[in-house]
Amino acid sequence: MSVQYVEKVYNSYAWVYDLVFGKVFHNGRVLAPKLLHLFPGARLLEVGVGTGMTLPLLPRNIEITGIDLSQKMLDQAQKRIAKLKYTHVRLLKMDATKLEFPDESFDRVLAAYFISTVPEPVKVVRELMRVTKPGGYLLFLNHFHSETPIKRYVEKIISPVCYRIGFKTDLDLYDLMDKAGLEIETIEPIDFQGHWKAVRCRK
Ligand SMILES: C[S@@+](CC[C@H](N)C(=O)[O-])C[C@H]1O[C@@H](n2cnc3c(N)ncnc32)[C@H](O)[C@@H]1O
Repeated sequence: MSVQYVEKVYNSYAWVYDLVFGKVFHNGRVLAPKLLHLFPGARLLEVGVGTGMTLPLLPRNIEITGIDLSQKMLDQAQKRIAKLKYTHVRLLKMDATKLEFPDESFDRVLAAYFISTVPEPVKVVRELMRVTKPGGYLLFLNHFHSETPIKRYVEKIISPVCYRIGFKTDLDLYDLMDKAGLEIETIEPIDFQGHWKAVRCRK
């Protein structure tokens, strides 16, 4: 699946995204600020910001840059920040595979329900590491490949079909981080009986 295909899929979801994926992923989004250890003035990159559902849950005394591939998702996020009169958030259309930021630009990176939507996750994680300051946290909220053999088998079978509608079900967390060269610091279950996890890494 190409980046262009993913962009098309999320452009088509934008108008209904909050209704379908609002409540289901709410627990993880609420947990994000705590796990990120934010501090006043921190520079946070939210990659795959989508319609910006996490933005109101983050403190207002930080500087947030939200990027996304899909202009239609960003348009929804833009409406949200205009309504909330946020001046601490900037939104940019950008591909996470080639981030247009200098090295070590951010204190924190948040990737909420995002990393399993990209065609080249290892490349994206390396890019996220590049733009994170040394010692900075990277937080991934996501579903990863299960450890149970039967679940793994089912996830592998259904993954190509699920990817046609926007996400993979067989992304292996340990393989991903190993290939990207990023060490996992903590893993916490967030939603759906722990099938979705909050994975915090430190550069
Ligand atoms: C499942 S949505 C998650 C949105 C939001 N983070 C949330 O919590 O609801 C995944 C988002 O990642 C974006 N995305 C996928 N691939 C991307 C890429 N290569 N670069 C930037 N954004 C991308 C999609 O356009 C979509 O808005």
